[in-house]
Amino acid sequence: MKLQGRRIAFVGAGNMAEALIKGLCRAEGVGASAISAADRRPDRTKFLAQKYGITTSTDNGACVRDADIVVLSVKPQVMGSVVPALRPHVPKGALVLSVAAGITTAAIESMLEPESRVVRSMPNTAAMVGLSATAISSGTHATDEDLEVARAVFEAVGRVVVVDEYQLDAVTGLSGSGPAYIFLIIEALADGGVKVGLSREIALQLAAQTLLGSAHMLLETGEHPGRLKDQVTSPGGTAIAGLHTLEAGGLRTTLIDAVEAATKRARELGDARK
Ligand SMILES: NC(=O)c1ccc[n+]([C@@H]2O[C@H](COP(=O)([O-])OP(=O)(O)OC[C@H]3O[C@@H](n4cnc5c(N)ncnc54)[C@H](OP(=O)(O)O)[C@@H]3O)[C@@H](O)[C@H]2O)c1
Repeated sequence: MKLQGRRIAFVGAGNMAEALIKGLCRAEGVGASAISAADRRPDRTKFLAQKYGITTSTDNGACVRDADIVVLSVKPQVMGSVVPALRPHVPKGALVLSVAAGITTAAIESMLEPESRVVRSMPNTAAMVGLSATAISSGTHATDEDLEVARAVFEAVGRVVVVDEYQLDAVTGLSGSGPAYIFLIIEALADGGVKVGLSREIALQLAAQTLLGSAHMLLETGEHPGRLKDQVTSPGGTAIAGLHTLEAGGLRTTLIDAVEAATKRARELGDARK
C-alpha cells in the first residue's frame, strides 16, 4: 500500500527495468497506468507498452516529468551523461531510486538538484522471476519514509534488506554475484548425478529443486543452517559421507574466498568510476 497513488518512471528500460515493471504491475495499489518508462531504443519502448500496457517514451525528460518515483535503470557507464540531462525534468520532491551498480548516492546527488532524495539499490538477476535478493541504502537526504517506499518497490521483485551504503560492495560480492556461484554449484551437482547414472535433464531438475527447497526451508523456518543440516545427517548415513567430502575439498573456505574476491573487485570497479 506504500505505493498507492504514486507514479513511477523508469529511465532505461532494459532487463532490470522490465523485471521491476512486471513485478509492480502485479503489486497491490499499483497499476500499469501509474508506470512509465523511457529508453533510447524505440523497439524496446514499443515492446514494453504492448506487453504491460504502461506509458513509454524515447524522451527521458518527458517520461519523468509527472513522476513521484524516478528509477534510474540505465547501465552505470551512462549514468554520468543521463542523470545531468534529466536534472531539470525531475519533479521537486520526487524520490530517485538507482539500480546502477557501483555509482554512489553522493555521485547521483551531485548530478541532481541540491537536497534531492536518493536511495541506491543492489538487486540481482533473479528479479526476472520475482525472487531477487535486493539491498537498499539511503543517500544523504532520503527519509525513513523514502526507504520504506524503496523497499515496497523492490519487494515487488523479491526480498529486501536495508544496509549502510559502504556495505553495498559486500552485497555485490554475495547476492549480486551470487546467482553465478549458484548456477555453477547446480551444474556441478548435476554433473555428480550424471556420474552416478542419472540423465542430465533429471539431474539438473533434482539439483535445482534441492537448492530451491533448502533455501525455502531456511527462510521459512528461520532455523540456523547448521541445525537444518544436522537434522538431515543421520549417524553413519549418506549425507555425512557427502559432507565429509565437501569439507575435505574446502567448499566452505572456497565460497568465503569467492565472496571476498568479488567484494574486492566491486570496490576496485567503484573506485575506478570515481
Ligand atoms: N541485470 C541485472 O541482473 C542487474 C543486477 C543488478 C543491478 N543491475 C543494474 O541495472 C541497470 C540496468 O541493467 P540492465 O541489465 O537492465 O541493462 P540493459 O538491459 O542494458 O538496460 C539498459 C537500457 O538503457 C538503455 N539506455 C542506454 N542509454 C540510454 C539513455 N541515454 N537514455 C535512455 N535509455 C538508455 C539501453 O539501451 P541500449 O541497449 O541501446 O544501450 C538499455 O535498453 C545497470 O545499472 C545495472 O548495474 C542490473
